[in-house]
Amino acid sequence: MTAIPTTFRAYVAEKLDTPDGAGRVERGVREFQAADLPPGEIEVRVGWSSVNYKDGLATRADGKVARISPIIPGIDLAGKVVASSDPGIPVGASVVAHGYDLGVARHGGFSEYQRVPAGWVVPLTDGLTERDAMAIGTAGFTAAMSVVALEERGLKPGDGPVLVTGASGGVGGTALAILADLGYEVWAATGKPDEADRLRGLGAAGILTRDEVTAAGKPLESERWAGAVDAVGAATLPYVLRTLRTGAAVAASGNASGPKLDTTVFPFILRGVALLGMDSAQLAIDRRRAIWDRLATDLRPRSLGEHVTEVELETLDAALDAILAGEARGRWVVKVGG
Ligand SMILES: NC(=O)c1ccc[n+]([C@@H]2O[C@H](COP(=O)([O-])OP(=O)(O)OC[C@H]3O[C@@H](n4cnc5c(N)ncnc54)[C@H](OP(=O)(O)O)[C@@H]3O)[C@@H](O)[C@H]2O)c1
Repeated sequence: MTAIPTTFRAYVAEKLDTPDGAGRVERGVREFQAADLPPGEIEVRVGWSSVNYKDGLATRADGKVARISPIIPGIDLAGKVVASSDPGIPVGASVVAHGYDLGVARHGGFSEYQRVPAGWVVPLTDGLTERDAMAIGTAGFTAAMSVVALEERGLKPGDGPVLVTGASGGVGGTALAILADLGYEVWAATGKPDEADRLRGLGAAGILTRDEVTAAGKPLESERWAGAVDAVGAATLPYVLRTLRTGAAVAASGNASGPKLDTTVFPFILRGVALLGMDSAQLAIDRRRAIWDRLATDLRPRSLGEHVTEVELETLDAALDAILAGEARGRWVVKVGG
């Protein structure tokens, strides 16, 4: 039994061969056949999706993200269940799905309809609308996961300043907002000086320039940060590691500036610093649902819904290009069915 119409609209990226072997990606809105969707216990009428860095990469020939072609990108989605063979997830329920293979190795959220395994689905609780959930999206979920990891390592408000890098972006901005709302003294590192006022509005106690957090330095510098959230990677993680306080940790999730890590072992062996790797895509569903419950309650950013740019399937191209160019200022949500 399917409740998905025979054809519907989806944003599709398809890798095509070129004479130089590099390939190119053709992308845009197409009529998509329901018969070409993968199997799954839950059928969703997608209301909203969002734009994440990985989605940008999924539409580039050299992005190394898309493992099928053509692909409907979109690593997250929120919508209403229209058919279900899982009694725990009834028709009419509002749900979120993100991560695992979504938008990477199987079709994702930039689509009017999607079919997903029941074990990937998070029922939305009352505290969040479908649009709220995608204003958070994978980036915001990863921010929450990072905060939870730091808490589990023992970090508490009052322990000292916590640094968030790439603060104008999706992971960074949400981490900043969550930490500030929880009562932490949060410092924001950004490459966009004109974002300083907005970041202070989200709760930043102080701002660091990108130069301060990307400059070369000694293997160990003055102990400054009680914790850190980093989604920028190559450019900033070395600075974070050499300035963390003894016993402190950084939750590292991203490579917006590149994947290489140029550091020494000294922060680890002389200060007991911890590098906590965040992989939101593979997080087990129970942990995932528990973090979404917290996102609807104590981790819900007060600023949720602000600093959100709305696009539609037809206007996705510019947002995908902008996120890859490091031009994020908050989050982009994709209104699919609304
Ligand atoms: N591991 C996971 O589970 C997971 C989940 C979500 C995202 N991620 C990864 O996390 C990263 C961020 O994702 P996002 O959605 O937050 O992206 P985003 O919205 O584009 O934010 C990234 C931010 O990084 C900063 N930045 C970009 N290029 C930089 C450079 N060359 N040097 C220094 N800073 C730079 C910019 O902030 P400023 O201008 O303010 O400095 C930018 O806004 C990506 O690599 C993404 O793939 C991983």
